[in-house]
Amino acid sequence: MKRIDKILSNEQFREYLKKTAEYEKDRIYCPHNIEHALDTARIAYIKSLETGAKVSKEIIYAAALIHDIGRCRQYEDGTPHEIASVMLGRGILQRCGFDAAEIDEILTAVSEHRAAGKRSELGELLSFADDVSRMCMLCGARATCKWKKEDMNMEVTY
Ligand SMILES: [Fe+2]
Ligand SMILES: [Fe+2]
Repeated sequence: MKRIDKILSNEQFREYLKKTAEYEKDRIYCPHNIEHALDTARIAYIKSLETGAKVSKEIIYAAALIHDIGRCRQYEDGTPHEIASVMLGRGILQRCGFDAAEIDEILTAVSEHRAAGKRSELGELLSFADDVSRMCMLCGARATCKWKKEDMNMEVTY
């Protein structure tokens, strides 16, 4: 997982996370921080083991780390963050040693993580993990959250 270590220490990756944290410092809803990215990675990897998905652990972690990296851009100029994450994530992945086919697989999943409809295998893992990682049952901001009541995680998914 050397390339995951590279993402985690990549200057741009850290810069985008820092910017997002600044924009979210007074946010009462779920943050888009490193804890969320790692929760998403771990849940997606567990799901991949349970379902026998043909996606490597490293590719799953890369997709999860990158999936919300464009959130700072959304705060800056309104670009939907799944699109901004593709734009900002490409350079990070290139600098961390991922090849063109891997980058394509990862960024396709990132672009799919909020979209309804058919997703790639990795996009499905990412979207599932992204959703169930959120602890709605313990959240004080639930009453005004834009998530539909029926979609909220009122129990832990095992
Ligand atoms: Fe997201
Ligand atoms: Fe997310």
